[in-house]
Amino acid sequence: MKEIKAIIKPFKLDDVVSALHNIEDLPGITISEIKGFGRSKAKDTEDAIKDGLHNYVKKIKIELVVKDDIVDDVVKAIQENAHTGNPGDGKIFIIDVLETIRIRTGETGEDAI
Ligand SMILES: Nc1ncnc2c1ncn2[C@@H]1O[C@H](COP(=O)(O)OP(=O)(O)OP(=O)(O)O)[C@@H](O)[C@H]1O
Ligand SMILES: [Mg+2]
Repeated sequence: MKEIKAIIKPFKLDDVVSALHNIEDLPGITISEIKGFGRSKAKDTEDAIKDGLHNYVKKIKIELVVKDDIVDDVVKAIQENAHTGNPGDGKIFIIDVLETIRIRTGETGEDAI
């Protein structure tokens, strides 16, 4: 089991989710509206917002926990559909997941994803 955590530009969300819908066995997606900064510290971008002392840019965070066999398809779908080639396109992180528990049934591991 892997968690795929991606930070993308908000206007790319529809394209990314459309591509993810095409993946068989996709178990679920969590989407959050977030803000952050990359290497530029949001200093050189028009869409920066100041909060307190620092600049941030609004982004979307996508989180999915999936079986290992669809990790490559998920990463490809996100990378291809979130890409503009400009700074701030975001990142994809892949993280090992130790355990999953489906609260309704008590199932664990891959059965619970
Ligand atoms: N190493 C990181 N850890 C946590 N969040 C990150 C990291 N790098 C980027 N982010 C998040 O992703 C968003 C987009 O990052 P961004 O694409 O600007 O990265 P970058 O390294 O500056 O690349 P680029 O040069 O393409 O802009 C940031 O606003 C931040 O929310
Ligand atoms: Mg950047």
